[in-house]
Amino acid sequence: MRFQRVKGTRDVLAREAMARRELEALVLERLERSGFLPILTPTFESYELYRRSTGESSDIVVKEMYRFEDMGGRELALRPEGTPSIVRAVLEAGLKPPVRLWYVMPMFRQDKPQKGRYREHTQIGAEILGEGEPQVDAELIKLGYDLFNEMGIRGMYIELNSIGCRGCRPGYVAELSRFLTSHLDELCDDCKVRTRRNPLRVFDCKVKSCHAVLESAPSQGDYLCPECREHFSRVKKGLERFSIPYRENERLVRGLDYYSRTVIEFKSSVLGAQDTVCGGGRYDYLVEDMGGPPTPGIGFAFGVERALLAAKGEEVFKFSGSSIPLLLVPLGEEASQFALELLFTLRNQGLCVQAEFRQGGLSKQLKRASARNAEHVLIIGEEEIGKERFILRNMLRGEQREVTIEEIVTIPELKSPASLLTSGDISIT
Ligand code: HAM
Repeated sequence: MRFQRVKGTRDVLAREAMARRELEALVLERLERSGFLPILTPTFESYELYRRSTGESSDIVVKEMYRFEDMGGRELALRPEGTPSIVRAVLEAGLKPPVRLWYVMPMFRQDKPQKGRYREHTQIGAEILGEGEPQVDAELIKLGYDLFNEMGIRGMYIELNSIGCRGCRPGYVAELSRFLTSHLDELCDDCKVRTRRNPLRVFDCKVKSCHAVLESAPSQGDYLCPECREHFSRVKKGLERFSIPYRENERLVRGLDYYSRTVIEFKSSVLGAQDTVCGGGRYDYLVEDMGGPPTPGIGFAFGVERALLAAKGEEVFKFSGSSIPLLLVPLGEEASQFALELLFTLRNQGLCVQAEFRQGGLSKQLKRASARNAEHVLIIGEEEIGKERFILRNMLRGEQREVTIEEIVTIPELKSPASLLTSGDISIT
């Protein structure tokens, strides 16, 4: 019986795994220099955590969570996003804000799979607790902007909005609700429910006719209180100081319930329907809502798969074999034992080396070596062991020469790790 991976999940193959490693190294270096410490939280949490924070009316909680009961009757959920877990962990560990944390963790959402949207994906996120000044919003956006530029995200643009605070948002929501109620029969069934439960969520709807209705909806910007207006204008001033281009989008509300004031998305025009590489914003009430002291918060997270797609295209997801810088080819049992020990002697000297332990004559062994994409082979026979001189063959050029072990360990090409081949180059032995 052959098994297949579960719908919407992915295997990360060599080329992508290496690209992820590079990307993580870049993020780690930039974020840790900016004061972020790493954190990991459990893959599953209580269902209630997400219901209370991500939000009862969010698509994530209503439609996409992997929710289950364990054998002890506990209601749990696979983590759909990182922010609630981070706030919970900070409160549980009693960390004193200001605190900056970053993570790379898998997330689970049972949405319809398509290009750039998976049921398990990896997010890299950064969260700042205890810093509410608008300069911090600009600092975080600049950090993201630089990171995405360094990653080579193609066709990147930024959308920005302020969704106000607890003082001014209710006035806007009431006005929006009046407007939506007067257009109820033009809305899809989901949006009819959203109008009743949380009118702002109508902006998350993908249905075209709902978009048409929203064209003439009241504008959020007109309802911001003077403090939110001032906060937003100082955020924008910060971005202008860095010459970061952005588009103000009054319809941007983000699909999670905890946001307040600044919300932001980094998008890429090369991605198609799932074009948001990174989303984030302020969440100045979340800590308090989760039982902590009043503490402002802000953060963002980006999908690693989408970032790679936007930076490198689908090639990065293709299967790749690799070449072997040096392959030991022993001839005979005695030589095999010698090669087994030599493998580790050479690796300890920094060489990237494997051995072909299957037995056979020289020509058969060389055929195997080229099938395994060996760049160099070291031929080890009993005579060579006696003389302490071995034959090093360059498989690409077909040239060979005699070398001692002392000489081999000084050859730089033998120290570079295996390089990836494109799928067409792979030979199956
Ligand atoms: P989010 O916009 O739901 O925000 O997700 C962040 C990013 O994760 C998206 O922009 C996208 O790149 C990626 N992503 C989301 N769902 C999928 C999926 N099904 N498949 C592939 N990639 C996906 C959050 O999760 C917030 N916690 C971000 C945040 C941090 N806000 C403040 N701090």
